[in-house]
Amino acid sequence: MQLERLLQSQGFGSRKTCRLHVEAGDVRVNGVPCRDPQAEFDTAGLTFEIDGEMWTYAEHVYLALYKPAGFECTHQPQHHRSVYALLPPPLVRRGVQSVGRLDADTTGLLLFSDDGRFIHAMASPKRRVAKHYRATLKHPFDDTLPKQLLAGVLLTGESAPLAALSAQQIDTRTLTLSIDQGKYHQVKRMVAAAGNRVEALHRAGFDALSLEDGSLPALTPGDCCRLDENHLALLGYRR
Ligand code: URA
Repeated sequence: MQLERLLQSQGFGSRKTCRLHVEAGDVRVNGVPCRDPQAEFDTAGLTFEIDGEMWTYAEHVYLALYKPAGFECTHQPQHHRSVYALLPPPLVRRGVQSVGRLDADTTGLLLFSDDGRFIHAMASPKRRVAKHYRATLKHPFDDTLPKQLLAGVLLTGESAPLAALSAQQIDTRTLTLSIDQGKYHQVKRMVAAAGNRVEALHRAGFDALSLEDGSLPALTPGDCCRLDENHLALLGYRR
């Protein structure tokens, strides 16, 4: 692939901007300076440095973000900042989108990609990807609440009850639960339908990919990392 096209595909601006970067001597490819924007390179395993920062060519990118509270999952946020402000700008420019959304006050794992097939596979109701949450509730509860969630609760506007895959009481006000649907405000609405209220919500993981078991690098709120083939396998996804 031509160098200027290659840089454009990786999110470094228009073809013209990339050409100017190369001609200005800002770019090294596989460790070697290159000032020819039309130079051809094999993209397999290619690394490049632009403005002193090192990147590896990737046809698609897959990201995990530890979403902090107070960020909206949209490019045009209404009341808070955008989660996209937490991602490296070239990856935003290449068009990564989040897999579903978390509420502004929800924390935890949010996935992004520019691979439409991946986004569809993770969000598709048919594939039933499990999402694992920890909720702090307003009122103390007993084991009837997890039982209700496991049996299924009817949410306003839904024709059939929705049931959690698993639900467990951790202490008097903390609940963990997993769901494999992705309805709007689903966890908060399920807990409300069971007679309580979510005060804080955290998503620990998707399927076997978790912020809490070492399957991802240690991330703190606001951090993101690239996902590799092993991470994608934990999500049951093959490229
Ligand atoms: N369910 C909710 O109610 N909110 C979220 O952010 C995610 C799941």
